[in-house]
Amino acid sequence: MSTEHFSVQPSIQPLADNLRDDILANPGFGRHFTDHMAHIRWTSSADWHGHEVRPYGPLQLDPSAAVLHYGQEIFEGIKAYRHADGSIWTFRPEKNAERFRRSARRLALPELSDDNFLNSVKTLVSQDAHWVPTPDSEADESSLYLRPFMIASEAFLGVRPAQEVDYYVIACPVAAYFKGGVKPVSIWLSSHYKRAAPGGTGFAKCGGNYAASLLAQQEASDNNCDQVAFLDAAENTWVEELGGMNLFFVFKDGRIVTPRLTDTILEGVTRDSMLQLARDEGLTPEERAISINEWRDGIASGEITEVFACGTAAVVTPIGQLVSENGTIEHPEGNAVATKLRKRLLDIQYGRAKDTHGWMTQLV
Ligand code: COI
Repeated sequence: MSTEHFSVQPSIQPLADNLRDDILANPGFGRHFTDHMAHIRWTSSADWHGHEVRPYGPLQLDPSAAVLHYGQEIFEGIKAYRHADGSIWTFRPEKNAERFRRSARRLALPELSDDNFLNSVKTLVSQDAHWVPTPDSEADESSLYLRPFMIASEAFLGVRPAQEVDYYVIACPVAAYFKGGVKPVSIWLSSHYKRAAPGGTGFAKCGGNYAASLLAQQEASDNNCDQVAFLDAAENTWVEELGGMNLFFVFKDGRIVTPRLTDTILEGVTRDSMLQLARDEGLTPEERAISINEWRDGIASGEITEVFACGTAAVVTPIGQLVSENGTIEHPEGNAVATKLRKRLLDIQYGRAKDTHGWMTQLV
């Protein structure tokens, strides 16, 4: 496949070194962006063209741009990690590229080739390499979070797939997604709201799914919870996922269960990696339906010893409590399996352990 060349227009006003260092020392999540962004344009007549890396800045969109009215948009989340020798790597980018194509198909957007996806990430990270944090210890999980996204930019209010589309990649240095680092989080079980329904867009990474989760996430915050868990729309019985992360249940006999993939569940790259790392650790992964009663009963009986969330942003985060209108279920402390899998994953991503599955791709 041919590799398109990205033209690079360097910023004439990059952030001063001392200000960037201040941000890198305490990046938070998703608040501070690097000096550049990648862009490719698509039109139905000219296909993908205009590959460029240009200074980060506001987009100019016609107020009638389809994305603003009908939400025709998809995105990805992927990180770049600095290794001890200074080199910069990313994790399983081909999985994100493939999911991005799948999401595009569902949202009637044009598919971007895997080459274009990877080269956009590579070119941006090369240009903004000094924005990739250098972890100061194994406990420091800072990285550069990359957010590729595609929007329907055609100025047209008729409801049909847009004929003009723009793809961008922006990047921000990040620390842990949840405030306070790796400590167990509390989960609110949404009893009214659904994230996705069969035949809908739940498996695609599109803004609409996240928009649909926000009121439930607000309800979670109102109940002092960090995240919201959704049940299936048809039977209100089967555990699906959190607002932005997949779920795993560790059983005392060594099984580790995650809801099987359906068209209402996002196929997480971290989820897939957990299944492999669990197998490597001698656990027995199972992808199957798991009901809310099995979750509740399993904690009560001691059959389920740990529950954790995982995702690119959240990495692996243990769950400490399940809260609902019926009360609070405290989860056991310890989380030895989540802690071990988390360490295995981070050690591979930061180049501290051998990449036995060939998951890492060097960017710089
Ligand atoms: C990610 O994990 O990359 C996501 O897109 C989820 C969001 C909670 C930031």
